[in-house]
Amino acid sequence: MQVLKTNPILKLEDVGIGYDAPVGFNWVIRGFSLVLWPGDKVALLGPSGVGKSSIALAILGLLPENAMMEGKIYFEGELVSSKRLQRIRGTEIGIVFQQPHAYLNPLMTAEQIVAEVLEVKKNLPKIVAIEKARKVLFEVGLDRDSFKKYPFQLSGGMAQRVAIAQTIALEPKLLIGDEITSSLDADLRREILKLVMELVERSGSAFLFISHDEEAVNYVGCKRIRINSNKGQGY
Ligand SMILES: Nc1ncnc2c1ncn2[C@@H]1O[C@H](COP(=O)(O)OP(=O)(O)OP(=O)(O)O)[C@@H](O)[C@H]1O
Ligand SMILES: [Mg+2]
Repeated sequence: MQVLKTNPILKLEDVGIGYDAPVGFNWVIRGFSLVLWPGDKVALLGPSGVGKSSIALAILGLLPENAMMEGKIYFEGELVSSKRLQRIRGTEIGIVFQQPHAYLNPLMTAEQIVAEVLEVKKNLPKIVAIEKARKVLFEVGLDRDSFKKYPFQLSGGMAQRVAIAQTIALEPKLLIGDEITSSLDADLRREILKLVMELVERSGSAFLFISHDEEAVNYVGCKRIRINSNKGQGY
């Protein structure tokens, strides 16, 4: 069956992001445009400090107070407003960051972490949410013993699997991975990338893979957009 692609899942038009700092205001990136269609897998590649994470935060409406953004961001053809973002953040656009231990709730077990997002964002009753959380944790490679572990009891790779489970449990149409493997050693890096690619392919969601790691991007083998300098650019 032919799939009709009416609107891109994500479109960034001439996006610029800058920050107020003690030395004054500074644009980090300007004139950045990007189009992602459903199922597209694109790597955003570039050295440290060029604004890759800033772009991810802008897409999610999570830029800090001292940031300013110009340009337009559309999700499924509609301009993204802050109100709409509250609804689609997490459910339709999911993100996994570099340091899972920095944002996984330290007071919850792996299964509670995943179940909580399902209760809050999908309104699932607790018992159903826990069942689904266990299923997703199993899919990302956790064994049953680990379901009841707290983040501090999990290795970096295992914690990253929980963070991935927390995000994909909501079945987002767009998954953003911001340096998801940068804190892991080489073998684990490949394992996690393989897992994420399998999950993305199975779900059909689009994937924006943010990385400064050329090898990781080669391993994923997707289309790439390179940001090399932070002085006014267009794509
Ligand atoms: N809250 C902030 N206030 C001021 N400057 C900021 C803020 N957040 C980021 N910056 C600056 O914006 C620039 C881009 O940061 P960003 O984190 O987007 O880069 P990056 O490409 O993701 O880098 P990395 O590969 O190291 O993660 C950097 O120079 C950074 O110092
Ligand atoms: Mg970054």
